[in-house]
Amino acid sequence: MLHSLHDLRQRKAQAQRLSVLTAYDYPCARLLDEAGIDLILVGDSLGMVVLGLPDTTGVTLADMVHHLKAVRRGVKRAPVIGDLPYHTYDTPAEAVKNARLLMDAGADAVKLEGGLALIPQVRAIIGAGIPFIGHIGMLPQSVIEEGGYKKKGRTPEGAAHLMADARALDEAGAMACVLESIVPEVATQITAAVQMSTIGIGAGPHCDGQVLVTPDLLGSFPWFRPPFAKARADLATETLRAVREYITAVQ
Ligand code: KIV
Repeated sequence: MLHSLHDLRQRKAQAQRLSVLTAYDYPCARLLDEAGIDLILVGDSLGMVVLGLPDTTGVTLADMVHHLKAVRRGVKRAPVIGDLPYHTYDTPAEAVKNARLLMDAGADAVKLEGGLALIPQVRAIIGAGIPFIGHIGMLPQSVIEEGGYKKKGRTPEGAAHLMADARALDEAGAMACVLESIVPEVATQITAAVQMSTIGIGAGPHCDGQVLVTPDLLGSFPWFRPPFAKARADLATETLRAVREYITAVQ
């Protein structure tokens, strides 16, 4: 069970996998923490699974601050990561200013999407003393520019690009990096090549850890679930049952 981000190196050295889940509110965060999850991510996936938006590009800093504060109140132990939303880190100065807002709201580290092209922002954040987590591969905030969600690392050029992104983030001082929707062999090679911990989602079983969007795990967002996400509960069905039972009882 992870108590501090500083234990990440040791966990990688001991090949002990990291369990990571998203939380957006107090009760969920508290339950994840009490269950012993290693890291909690207040992801901008909240745009879809909490706010009902079509993708993450409509999530604002104010949304992130609001949900981070709720999560912080529920967590005693697990380090909490906050996502910097779309277009809130266009320059190094903006990245630092907004990363500080997330830290003030209760994050222990911040995450942004991108590799080589974002290194000035990443260096500025780390230089300001803010722990940093990277995110490469399929980048949900780029869904409009890319015209959809596409698996990464399918070609030799794509794989080399991902490796360059990962090495650049590692050298800049990232503590960990999400590898999203990456061909498993490429994710395995990246994991072996870097000192930071890799946290996979749709990137095969050989990353240093795995992250899931919690409603996908709990089956509480039945309208969409990515194929790699195994639901281990069916809260949507259970909710419908309880609500219908209540309606009948009241009537
Ligand atoms: O926003 C999020 O939940 C994420 C995960 C998919 C890694 O970034």
